[in-house]
Amino acid sequence: MAYLLGIDIGTSGTKTVLFDESGTPLASYTGEYPLYQPHNGWAEQDPLDWWNATVDGINAVIARTGCKPADIKAVGLSGQMHSTVLLDRENKVLRRAILWCDQRTAAECAEIESRMGGRARLVEITANPALTGFSASKILWVRNNEPEIYEKTAHILLAKDYIRLMLTSQYATEVSDASGMQLLDVPGRCWSDEVLSKLEIDKALLGKVYESPEVTGQVTAEAAKLTGLAAGTPVVGGAGDNAAAAVGTGVVRNGRAFTTIGSSGVVFAHSDAIAIDPAGRVHTFCCAVPGAWHVMGVTLSAGMSLKWFRDNFCYAEMAAADGMGVDPYYIIDKQAAQSPIGANRLLFLPYLMGERTPHLDPDARGVFFGLSGMHKKRDLIRAVMEGVTYSLKDCLSVFGGMGLQVDEMAACGGGGSSKFWRQMLADVFNCEINTMASKEGPALGAAILAGVGAGVYSSVPEGCDALIKKAGTQQPDADNAKAYERCYGLYGSVYPALKELYPKLAQL
Ligand code: XUL
Repeated sequence: MAYLLGIDIGTSGTKTVLFDESGTPLASYTGEYPLYQPHNGWAEQDPLDWWNATVDGINAVIARTGCKPADIKAVGLSGQMHSTVLLDRENKVLRRAILWCDQRTAAECAEIESRMGGRARLVEITANPALTGFSASKILWVRNNEPEIYEKTAHILLAKDYIRLMLTSQYATEVSDASGMQLLDVPGRCWSDEVLSKLEIDKALLGKVYESPEVTGQVTAEAAKLTGLAAGTPVVGGAGDNAAAAVGTGVVRNGRAFTTIGSSGVVFAHSDAIAIDPAGRVHTFCCAVPGAWHVMGVTLSAGMSLKWFRDNFCYAEMAAADGMGVDPYYIIDKQAAQSPIGANRLLFLPYLMGERTPHLDPDARGVFFGLSGMHKKRDLIRAVMEGVTYSLKDCLSVFGGMGLQVDEMAACGGGGSSKFWRQMLADVFNCEINTMASKEGPALGAAILAGVGAGVYSSVPEGCDALIKKAGTQQPDADNAKAYERCYGLYGSVYPALKELYPKLAQL
């Protein structure tokens, strides 16, 4: 028997899934951990929490299936992008990782563009303008604000690449995640000497860059003892979580796209040729298919907005869900469905952590617009879900302007598993939304990449063709689409009306 292991180091938890060669999940384990927000707009996690959750996950899936560790042919890693880990010479974590949704680095973004002699050259090489979420500005922030930590820094790794180091002792990354560091020559798929020298970052701090399905190392004896894996098991490059989700939903050819609602929300389209939005509203990264790229728009607080609402205002729903043995989101979903389209004239801007697509504004914050004495909790929940969906439509609208072709749209992620939310996506996007038979997105994508590295599949698209099956399609409803279109029009006017006020709020 041949098994493949996919591990996704997410923001709310690390999910470890053991698959057989046909892509059937045999056992899954999610270890959760905290997100620290010590200041408004900051977001950090402890890399050791990721590692402990990984160790627990691997042990759990091996124990639950009783599989022989030697039958696990390879491990694939997927992870939250951009989140930056600084290590000393002994691989000791020097500070908590600064995450993808952290907004502290606006000054460093200006510094990066000025060191590069302007935005245009930076975009030419890294395919993106300087962004607060990306790793380069975080590295400069530590250098500018915590020089004693920067001085001790011997290695800089992304979240999943830190897990790779713990598993294999190798300092390595792969092109899809490395693209989000803003230090990669994205057209050339290698570190950019020009960017590194202009930013004065030593290349020796970074891992070796691989293509996503390539083998990057083997599980060490020490990691084998901790995890239960067999020493020598190959670990492939894997991919950033969105690129891995693309593989896990079969978005590996032109014309295919998906929308994911996880902590962040992403609209992602595959592209065999590199395509860049000169205004930088959407990101262009190398994708996990060697030699191809993808374009994606990002809503920073998608599922995170609903989780924020749940954690602060839905104690009763959580208690009821506990009693009924269901997920709290099941009840929250049902409540939202009791409110009409437009949530009785209530709009929500989901900018809890600032926003990337399309505003690129670290100071933006969330807004309920139109609160009335008649509103019930269900209206607020529906407004949150609609606001996230409008923000995702903003992402899709940028693709249209770039001439990117989208023939098929799939939904995935926690939010994508709600039929109600998927119908909202179909109506707001006014297009068919497909669901895939497997709900495992990034973990399955990582496992397919592992399978390619281990020679189980001959290529990433071939692995996807063999494993990824469509489960169903939801059609847009013409009347709903019209009703949402009116709300989306007004939604689009709220941010411009507030834009000038956000920097003042940040100064309070
Ligand atoms: C992508 C991004 C997020 C994280 C979430 O640019 O920042 O989607 O990858 O895990």
